[in-house]
Amino acid sequence: MVVKTFSFIFFTLALVGLGQSKSFEWDYSGLNSNEVLSSNIANEIGNANQSESAEQLTPKDQLLYFTLIAFRDISQSYVDRAANISHSILNDDDLKPNDSPLIKEFLKNITEFMERYEKYEEIDELFNLVDLYSNTTSHYFELDAALASPDVLNIERKLKKYGSDDLDREFEKEFLRFVDRFYEQMDEYKGKLSEEELKKEMAMLQWLEEFKPIENTEEKIISFEKFFRFYED
Ligand SMILES: *[C@@H]1O[C@H](CO)[C@@H](O)[C@H](O)[C@H]1NC(C)=O
Ligand SMILES: *[C@@H]1O[C@H](CO)[C@@H](O)[C@H](O)[C@H]1NC(C)=O
Ligand SMILES: *[C@@H]1O[C@H](CO)[C@@H](O)[C@H](O)[C@H]1NC(C)=O
Ligand SMILES: *[C@@H]1O[C@H](CO)[C@@H](O)[C@H](O)[C@H]1NC(C)=O
Repeated sequence: MVVKTFSFIFFTLALVGLGQSKSFEWDYSGLNSNEVLSSNIANEIGNANQSESAEQLTPKDQLLYFTLIAFRDISQSYVDRAANISHSILNDDDLKPNDSPLIKEFLKNITEFMERYEKYEEIDELFNLVDLYSNTTSHYFELDAALASPDVLNIERKLKKYGSDDLDREFEKEFLRFVDRFYEQMDEYKGKLSEEELKKEMAMLQWLEEFKPIENTEEKIISFEKFFRFYED
């Protein structure tokens, strides 16, 4: 659930933010937002050497750029591990000749993930893949075992056997590691601003003070969504 929320939020809001962030000076006229991401950011972020590419950006856009690069990297390692797990699941003899409609659907989902994983190129598809895998797996770790059917429990057992629950936990940890680096970037950014500019960033700095003390990771992820709104003007 955490993963799902996370990917959904950062993907859609990053799109909104970037599509409207004029200082990037990307030509997105005539493109829909998905295409903006694939054609421009994939070039920028896809092969980016962060320090080099970020140099031409304003300090504020550097902050966004840093964030998107971090999300790209977190997503990349997530889908790579998810593909490994999927591979094991699809080769698990216990699940193979299965008449259960639920298990069939689950395997169909995993197969679709693998097919798309093997051919994806664009960064928006990378984010979709995170969504796709977490949509079909994460809810198994939030079950009420007493109410779950044997098929559901079987899927849950297999996912755990191949480390999908660890993957979710790792994703959370990665997010928290990102947050620590984000604080440093924020401090740097603040250091570059004049009194006048600091005033303009009041809303963002206020949000940061609200964001910092949040302990619950899921709530923290949800609150992070607001960061992208400061790029919407
Ligand atoms: C990235 O840029 C930095 C600073 O310009 C440079 O030192 C580093 O070698 C570059 N890395 C790659 C992989 O190009
Ligand atoms: C995927 O599995 C292979 C073989 O078990 C392993 O070498 C590789 O490191 C794994 N990759 C990831 C991202 O977990
Ligand atoms: C298959 O994927 C759909 C859409 O992501 C999801 O709603 C559904 O719960 C998944 N099915 C199973 C059995 O996991
Ligand atoms: C995953 O689930 C969310 C919420 O139910 C939905 O909006 C999103 O489109 C799904 N993503 C994929 C790739 O199926």
